[in-house]
Amino acid sequence: METVLVTGGSGMLGSAVAAGLVRAGHHAVVFDQRINEQNIGSIRDQVTVIQGDVCDRDQLEAVVTEHRVTRIIHLAALLSVHVQADPDRGLRVNALGTNNVFDVAVSLGIKRVVWASTAAVYGRKHHYEKLVGRGGAVSEADAPTPRDIYSATKLLCELLAQRYAALGLDVVGLRPVTTYGLGVQTGAVGELLAAIDEASAGRTGHVGKYWSEDAHINPIFAVDCASQFIQTCLHPEPLQQPIYNTGTGEYVTIGQMMRVATELTGAPILFDHQAGDMEVFDCVDCDSTALRDELGWVAQYDLRTAVEACIAEFRRTVRDAA
Ligand SMILES: NC(=O)c1ccc[n+]([C@@H]2O[C@H](COP(=O)([O-])OP(=O)(O)OC[C@H]3O[C@@H](n4cnc5c(N)ncnc54)[C@H](O)[C@@H]3O)[C@@H](O)[C@H]2O)c1
Repeated sequence: METVLVTGGSGMLGSAVAAGLVRAGHHAVVFDQRINEQNIGSIRDQVTVIQGDVCDRDQLEAVVTEHRVTRIIHLAALLSVHVQADPDRGLRVNALGTNNVFDVAVSLGIKRVVWASTAAVYGRKHHYEKLVGRGGAVSEADAPTPRDIYSATKLLCELLAQRYAALGLDVVGLRPVTTYGLGVQTGAVGELLAAIDEASAGRTGHVGKYWSEDAHINPIFAVDCASQFIQTCLHPEPLQQPIYNTGTGEYVTIGQMMRVATELTGAPILFDHQAGDMEVFDCVDCDSTALRDELGWVAQYDLRTAVEACIAEFRRTVRDAA
């Protein structure tokens, strides 16, 4: 049995990782600055929960030592819209916080750190238009061109990881594509979930602040993304690459995703994006075959079954609250 520190462990993805570790018979130490009780409610008694800040290196070191942590899945970060709103804090949490995790891990002999970069390091889709135009997808060999401070902090972390790898740390970065799941979500992905939530209740959903109808994403359900992190962390062999794209191989438009929600609920979802709003997200297709092949990983959910699971959960939450 491994003891895995999950930073950001009560977040949307972190809570799915912690639950997956519990299911696999490992011990999860959930470390988060703001403990989201709703997200970890079902596993609360089976994990260790610590409120803490990755910016505090001494605290991290004490937690890893005290709980005899053997591996780390590092997910704590501020997401894109939050970094945009507060770049100073974004730099501290995403860059210095990640450096602290790597530094503690190398000094305490942690077996492997798997951490979340982002597929947003590829930046704007039109940079890769030729590849996408011929039906291609970007691979880890393509040069990142981050478009905002958030993705630049993640790219900086990729360089920090290289430094710590040279110092002997087994460290693997995953670049999550658009990851959505149950639990509280904010930012651009939160907008998609809020629309599905409205439709689940039979009301009209709205999308438009962050996405247009024809914007593309590689969708992955949080449970599946979590299992990619867990399998990478526990893989018995050293991984062949320092960084991997994640994903299931699906590449769809937001319109397609919302039409699935409408088919399943009967409720309309409107696209309200007005020219002049902030630049919408539109993601380049990420080739995720390297990680899937190396792990022998197979998705549990496709777009339809994942949206269906979200709708069922939203309806269950409403029923339980009534
Ligand atoms: N959801 C996506 O589509 C997506 C895509 C690419 C990358 N990622 C990355 O995956 C990771 C998880 O994202 P998520 O979608 O679950 O977001 P989330 O906001 O739900 O989770 C992040 C968690 O980190 C915690 N946190 C923030 N600052 C902290 C600090 N200083 N110390 C300790 N904990 C702190 C938050 O409280 C939160 O629970 C992040 O690193 C994110 O950048 C997510």
